[in-house]
Amino acid sequence: YPPVVDSFAGQSVPELARRFGTPLYVYDAAVIAQRIADLSAFDVVRFAQKANSNLAVLDLVRRHGVVVDAVSAGEIQRALAAGFQAGGVDLPPGAHPEIVYTADIFDRETLEMVVELGIPVNCGSPDMIDQYGEQLARASRAVPGPGASSPPGITLRINPGFGHGHSQKTNTGGQQSKHGIWHEDLAHCVERAARHNLAISALHMHIGSGADLEHLSKVCVAMEQACLTVGPSIHSISAGGGLPTPYRDGEQRVDLTGYFELWNGVRNRLAQTFGHDVSLEIEPGRYLVAECGALIAEIRAVKQMGDNRFYLLDAGFNNLARPILYGAYHPMAIAYNDASEPGRPRPTLSDPARMDSVIVGGPLCESGDIFTQEDGGFVRSRELPAASVGDYLVIGAAGAYGAVMGSNYNSKPLAAEVLVENGQAHLVRQRQTFADIIRGESIPKT
Ligand code: LLP
Repeated sequence: YPPVVDSFAGQSVPELARRFGTPLYVYDAAVIAQRIADLSAFDVVRFAQKANSNLAVLDLVRRHGVVVDAVSAGEIQRALAAGFQAGGVDLPPGAHPEIVYTADIFDRETLEMVVELGIPVNCGSPDMIDQYGEQLARASRAVPGPGASSPPGITLRINPGFGHGHSQKTNTGGQQSKHGIWHEDLAHCVERAARHNLAISALHMHIGSGADLEHLSKVCVAMEQACLTVGPSIHSISAGGGLPTPYRDGEQRVDLTGYFELWNGVRNRLAQTFGHDVSLEIEPGRYLVAECGALIAEIRAVKQMGDNRFYLLDAGFNNLARPILYGAYHPMAIAYNDASEPGRPRPTLSDPARMDSVIVGGPLCESGDIFTQEDGGFVRSRELPAASVGDYLVIGAAGAYGAVMGSNYNSKPLAAEVLVENGQAHLVRQRQTFADIIRGESIPKT
């Protein structure tokens, strides 16, 4: 990220801001397509849509041959609305369904939905196996139909006993974590599934989000062990998500070739042992969509507080929660609004006189509403070009876990979202209105 930008995804930032308003999320379709292409060695790329489930993004990844996971009834409905097909429990072993439900619980609505739509499930808790088996039995008693003879395959998500993430809050392995079936419980879960006539056709491990490759690589060893415990009913393995993405200047992209080779080795050895093909899935969220996105906000106040200089934006942690939740770092740049001060000189990093050391915050009535903070809430300043009210601040690498984690705190509307594809900026989510915010609320009549 250069300190000053004029455009994002080939579109003028001030024009985007004028046309769609701020705060505004903008996604560059070409970047998503490139990240998908990076992973082409894997048999199946299953997008963890929780990272960015805008319908237009889901449709885009679908057009590039990617399938999805869903962690809720809402995400299943999003996938359907974006054109993914339901069904798949009756596909032959090793075939990959377009939607898989992956979670540690079934709420009652979702349990009914997956059985009714035939959406395959990835169970992260032993209780899910019984609940799913019982629901299937209830449904087939209600509608006796074909396929009742072949046991449906399920995936088990295994917690291998260790995990790693960019923050303790995104580490999903080990005994501190609520995720997955404890690795020592696997043999017992195989029996549990058999009691419901369910075959374990796939295993899945996801040890955390934003892990490093060293930790991710250890998963291969654990996966191979676990698959051998289950045996040849396994036709597919999933490496989960967690691939890191560069947020800071100079951060290296992960060695995907080396990573694929490790997994490919596991897959090949298992295929040889089992005497049939084993398909290899990966389940990235962040990797596909983080870099494609920026949050564009307008600077609405510039103020000096003792030694500290603040830029206050019209976007806050209601729009991008990663800094307040994890102390996450996002690159930032200024886009000058020439309409407010035409012909201003453009500062560069090599021109320190024109740089300011600033703390960047939002509009919310809470002192933690700061974009430049570290884990633990320690406020940090950032070197940014001198800017004034009316200029724009572009927060980069915000396409993953940005808009999806937005809230209506302080009765602020969810931001608008724009997808830029083939040089065209499309509004893919309208900014919420006040009517949207209070929809469903009422004052009791007395
Ligand atoms: N698969 C499963 C089962 C997951 O739970 C997750 C993420 C993924 C895949 C995708 O992980 P990724 O490839 O994106 O690292 N809000 C946090 C991240 C939470 C991740 C939750 N699960 C953040 O903003 O960093």
